[in-house]
Amino acid sequence: MINKINERVKDINVPGIRVFANQVAQYSDGINLTIGEPDFHTPDNVKKAGIEAIQQNKTGYSHNAGLFELREAVSNFFADRYSLTYDPETEIIITNGASGGIDSILRTILTEGDEVILTAPIYSGYDPIIHLCGAKAVYLDTTETEFIPDPSKLEELINDRTKAVIFNYPSNPTGMTLSKEQMDDIVSVLKKHEIFVISDEIYSENTFGKKHVSFASYEEIRHKLFLVHGVSKSHAMTGWRVGFVLSPKELMLEVLKVNLSNSICASLPSQYAAIEALNNSRDNPEEMNKSYVERRDYVNDRLVELGFQIKKPTGAFYLFPSIEHTGLTSYEFATQLLEQEHVAVVPGSAFTTFGEGYIRISYANSMENLEKAMDRIEKFMENLKVS
Ligand SMILES: Cc1ncc(COP(=O)(O)O)c(C=O)c1O
Repeated sequence: MINKINERVKDINVPGIRVFANQVAQYSDGINLTIGEPDFHTPDNVKKAGIEAIQQNKTGYSHNAGLFELREAVSNFFADRYSLTYDPETEIIITNGASGGIDSILRTILTEGDEVILTAPIYSGYDPIIHLCGAKAVYLDTTETEFIPDPSKLEELINDRTKAVIFNYPSNPTGMTLSKEQMDDIVSVLKKHEIFVISDEIYSENTFGKKHVSFASYEEIRHKLFLVHGVSKSHAMTGWRVGFVLSPKELMLEVLKVNLSNSICASLPSQYAAIEALNNSRDNPEEMNKSYVERRDYVNDRLVELGFQIKKPTGAFYLFPSIEHTGLTSYEFATQLLEQEHVAVVPGSAFTTFGEGYIRISYANSMENLEKAMDRIEKFMENLKVS
C-alpha cells in the first residue's frame, strides 16, 4: 500500500534533530546537546493545578477555542507584559502546543502554488506543513547579515504568489533577537504588501538583557498578523501541549474551523495548569534565564577559545557556531563528534541548507554536562588538527 501514500508526505524527511538525539542514547556516557526543551521541571504549583483538575474530573472537552478562563489569562498576560490587547472572547485560540497553532494557521491560509517566505536558517517545523498544503517555502538567507533578515532582500522575494512571511525571534536555531530598529525596517516592508505575517514568539520569555518586542505591537500589520505562543518553553511545559494563537476576530473564525477539525480542543487538565502558569508563575522564565545566561556565557567563551566563530545569542537556549574552519560538513562534524566523543549536537543543515557550515548546541543542560561536553569538544578539535 505504500505507493498509495500521499507523495508529499513521502518527501518529508525526519528532522535531523531527532536522528542525533536517538543515536546518543546508545552511549552510557553520552551527552545530548540537541535538546529543544528546558531542562527544568514544570513549577510545582502548575503541576498541582493540572493534578487537581484531573482529580476534580475536569477531563472532558473544553470550548473549541479553549477554556474562556485560560483565554482570559492569555489576554491578561499579553496586556501586562507587552501592552497588547487581544479579546479573549474572539481573538485567542488555545492549541495543542505552538505546533498545533502553526499547523492550523498554515492550513487555514495556504492553497496550492502559494509561497511562504521564511528567514533561514530556521526551525524545521514549518516547512513540512507548507509542503503538505501544496505551497512552497522560499528562504530569506540571513547568514550574511548576522542572522537578522535584510528588509531589502525580503522585499525582493515578495511576489504575487507570496501568501505569508514567517518570523521566529528569539530564533531557533540561532538564538538571535531583533531590535526595535530592525523590526521597524522589516515592518515598513510588510505593511506595503497584502500578505499574512506569522510571528512565532514562543521564546519571547527567554530574552536576555533586553525586553522582547512583539511584531503584534505594530498597529499597521495587526490586521494580518498571527501571533503564535505557548507555555512550552516559558514554563518548562513541553509535554503538556498548550499553545496559543492570537489574531483579529475575522481571521480567527476561520482558524478555529481548522483547529477544531484536527484536535477539537487542547487537553483540559493541561489548560488548567496553563492558567496557573500564566496567572501565578510569571517569574518562572526569569529564574530559568539566570541559569541560561550563565551557561550561554560559559559555552560561548569556551567555543571562542577553541577558535569557533560565533554570534553571541540574546535569546532562546541555543548557540549556533560556525564550523567552516574544520573543513567538515555539519553532518560530518556532528557524526564524528558523536562517534568519537559521545556528544550529540544538531548539524546546521537540519535548519535548511542555509544552516550548512554551522552546528546547533542547546545549553538547556546542566553546567556539569556542559563542562564535560566542552572538554570533549576540545579533545575532538585537537584530534581534528592532528589527523
Ligand atoms: C520555534 C519553535 N516554534 C514552535 C515549537 C514547538 O512548540 P510546542 O512544543 O509548543 O509545540 C518549537 C519547539 O522546539 C520551536 O523551536
